[in-house]
Amino acid sequence: MRFFGVVLAVGLQLSAVVARSVTDGQLPLAFGHPSQSGVSGHAGTRPNIVFFLTDDQDLHLNSLDYLPLIQEHLIDKGTLYKRHYCTTAICCPSRVSLLTGKQAHNTNVTDVVPPYGGYPKFVSQGLNHAYLPIWLQEAGYDTYYTGKLFNAHTVENYDAPFAAGWNASDFLLDPYTYMYLNATYQRNQDPPVSYEGRHTVDVLAEKANGFLEDAAKGDRPFFLGIAPVAPHSNVKAALFDDPIDDPGDVDKRLAFTPPIPAKRHEHLFEDAKVPRTPNFNPDFPTGASWVRSLKQQSQEDLDFNDHFYRQRLRTLQSVDELVAGIVERLEAYGLLQNTYIFYTTDNGYHIGQHRLQPGKECGFEEDINIPLIVRGPGVSEGEVAEIVTTHIDLAPTILKLAGAPSRADFDGEAIPLSRSELQEAASARHEHVTVEYWGYAASEGKVFRRDPDDARIIFNNTYKALRIISAEYNLYYAVWCNNEHELYNLKTDPYQLHNLLHPDTPRPSHLLGVPFDKVLARLDALLFVLKSCKGKTCVRPWQALHPAGNVQNLREALNSRFDPFYKEQRRVSFTRCELGYILDAEGPQFEAEGLVYRQGVWWSEWV
Ligand SMILES: *[C@@H]1O[C@H](CO)[C@@H](O)[C@H](O)[C@H]1NC(C)=O
Ligand SMILES: *[C@@H]1O[C@H](CO)[C@@H](O)[C@H](O)[C@H]1NC(C)=O
Ligand SMILES: *[C@@H]1O[C@H](CO)[C@@H](O)[C@H](O)[C@H]1NC(C)=O
Ligand SMILES: *[C@@H]1O[C@H](CO)[C@@H](O)[C@H](O)[C@H]1NC(C)=O
Repeated sequence: MRFFGVVLAVGLQLSAVVARSVTDGQLPLAFGHPSQSGVSGHAGTRPNIVFFLTDDQDLHLNSLDYLPLIQEHLIDKGTLYKRHYCTTAICCPSRVSLLTGKQAHNTNVTDVVPPYGGYPKFVSQGLNHAYLPIWLQEAGYDTYYTGKLFNAHTVENYDAPFAAGWNASDFLLDPYTYMYLNATYQRNQDPPVSYEGRHTVDVLAEKANGFLEDAAKGDRPFFLGIAPVAPHSNVKAALFDDPIDDPGDVDKRLAFTPPIPAKRHEHLFEDAKVPRTPNFNPDFPTGASWVRSLKQQSQEDLDFNDHFYRQRLRTLQSVDELVAGIVERLEAYGLLQNTYIFYTTDNGYHIGQHRLQPGKECGFEEDINIPLIVRGPGVSEGEVAEIVTTHIDLAPTILKLAGAPSRADFDGEAIPLSRSELQEAASARHEHVTVEYWGYAASEGKVFRRDPDDARIIFNNTYKALRIISAEYNLYYAVWCNNEHELYNLKTDPYQLHNLLHPDTPRPSHLLGVPFDKVLARLDALLFVLKSCKGKTCVRPWQALHPAGNVQNLREALNSRFDPFYKEQRRVSFTRCELGYILDAEGPQFEAEGLVYRQGVWWSEWV
């Protein structure tokens, strides 16, 4: 029923949208050729790109199963990349990495607020002039964006300076970004406007539809970014003028509650519950560091968190409608055949897995393995891709589609989109993901204050990790800032219940058919390279260890001829826990101290 409602409404609304964008004069930059009708000269030229970026949407809690319109318009008509990963599981660092094509250790935007992150850090790192929309404009694209760009992009700093690179923009601003019923948006160079009493995703849909209308009238191909805040928690926040250094202080400044759906969706899915997977509120502690000391959740927690889960699914219904509305309009404008549509999120989400309260910021699959769907010319329909892709690959992918040159400092590489490219990539593409995190983890659930251990903010959530996935193996390896280690063999333990490197876990004697310690030495050496990699080394890290080029993957590195070399390699370790990327807290660095294998001998090339 709902679906037909949406489709019918689109046709009726189009003329209203045209009238709005032509008469209200809010878009001085975006006026292309007002005399032209909706259909422009785009056909046969470079493709348009529509990029949906949701906030905190999971793959593993099955959110996509509840989105029939996205299923119909994107998944059935495009490719779902089931092994797509973010590289830092929190909003701002992840978004900055996505829009710059760089790991967070190369942007040094590692947090959501200053001094280590947020919009001010993005600006002070010089990235406001070195990110995707700038490069797209240089390549001849018109660029539009509406919704959340970064955290700590506020009603006070939005114009100091304005986010660069957009022909037209309408951003959500803090501290109202996550207020579903009292959002503040800020258009082009105008002052912020409050939308008290309206649902933020419905407001966003109007803005996105308006920009699409404007973009469709232009002579040039366009990029349109649409970034709804759903299904992020509703947050009542104060402005972050000062760094967070005390958990109690954070608590006073931040109040998380479940997301708020639009009225028309508030009664849906009354029986839905967080999937009771084997890692859901397990009977025994799992993981490492602070995760391992979490207590099992009470029935009161579980009930509340199931409600939290339903509220997420309900708020996502507005996104489902938003996507369908954009696809219908692209079709009406005759642009659909020449437009790539991307749908992804900034990071994943957990609710109850490993006993965790609702939140993100961890290295578990729930937090890092996230939806990516692509539809467009030449993209395989109804395909589920198994290759490893990451957020770092998206900027290279989009520039390639735009026909723009790639950049030497990209830490990722373009994602294969056609069936033949996918087939080729199955054997040639890298098999790793570099995962990194600095700072704290926040619990967004209900905090039962009667328990003093139930902290909302957990410090020392600093770790480096890697995922490595092939037909033969599937591993997660992490080193925490307190030097605890984690290793999961996801082939036999897909829910990451058995940390093979915890002192309480019996170590297997063998892994992948070789002695356990040999695998560990390779994984650690790989992480040693990746934690400070730059450019091509992030894509081909084995090459840094084996410059002769005879080792491309873990299997090849396991050759026993390299045993002595890997035994000598420096290990990943931290000197101390820091809330940001402070080099001297991060132990030995590959470029200074790593060994390189050449013709049977090895030495440190760099000293
Ligand atoms: C979009 O901005 C670019 C860069 O400023 C400019 O060259 C282009 O003409 C603008 N497009 C429109 C439709 O105004
Ligand atoms: C809604 O946001 C505006 C600022 O944009 C603020 O002045 C107002 O107090 C807020 N209303 C509520 C109910 O929080
Ligand atoms: C964080 O780690 C440091 C060691 O780097 C330790 O001294 C401190 O007690 C830890 N803090 C918490 C809250 O666990
Ligand atoms: C990252 O930024 C922080 C905060 O400005 C700074 O203290 C640190 O030295 C930077 N790290 C690197 C590796 O440049």
